[in-house]
Amino acid sequence: LTNGPLTGKHALVTSGPTHEPIDPVRYIANRSSGAQGTAIATALRDLGASVTFVTGPADVAPPAGVRVVRVNTAREMKDAVEAALPADVAVFAAAVADWRVASQSASKIKKKNGALPVLEFAENPDILAAVSQMTSGRPQLVIGFAAETDQVLDHATAKRVRKGCDWIVANDVSPETGIMGGAQNAVTLISDTGAEVWPRMNKSDVATKLANLIVDELGRGV
Ligand code: C5P
Repeated sequence: LTNGPLTGKHALVTSGPTHEPIDPVRYIANRSSGAQGTAIATALRDLGASVTFVTGPADVAPPAGVRVVRVNTAREMKDAVEAALPADVAVFAAAVADWRVASQSASKIKKKNGALPVLEFAENPDILAAVSQMTSGRPQLVIGFAAETDQVLDHATAKRVRKGCDWIVANDVSPETGIMGGAQNAVTLISDTGAEVWPRMNKSDVATKLANLIVDELGRGV
């Protein structure tokens, strides 16, 4: 779109899981499908934004008409995000692994008659927090996600402050909700003015609603 409300704006979206290698053939991952992040990138594109889409190995195909940067690990995702800045708005929808295997094996770990391997972990960089706390060149609007299984609102509200982002899109990813990997999402949008509970709707509708709020916020000017 050459004359949409986000024409001339650069939107950065992260999406999907990350894969953290154990050895050359094994990895640790999570159940993120990439559906919500892909829908958000699509909605922003449809409003005219130029979109950089940094994606881990997702189940769903990235949207057409956006710049796609494929990564595997959290550290690769951080590098890709830094390389993509500056942006007017950054939406961190990726389910980034909190931990990676501290010393991955250069060769496939073999069974040794009953001795079990022990994995040690190291903490991954927090990409959302790093971008939220940039002292220069920070995107005007930084949006994080909070996928929780309990005390969703409390955890997400605390997360917004701790990370320093502007908005948090909180959702309950308990298995019985069917949200992770499903077509629908039930979110609460948390900002400095409070929490807004959205009805359960298709992930594409969550994306459209969020994208329209992004238009309003960027339109408020700097
Ligand atoms: O702390 P938690 O992983 O629950 O935070 C979720 C939010 O932070 C999501 O927006 C996710 O994309 C982002 N995040 C990140 N880098 C990490 C961990 C989470 O950008 N290492």
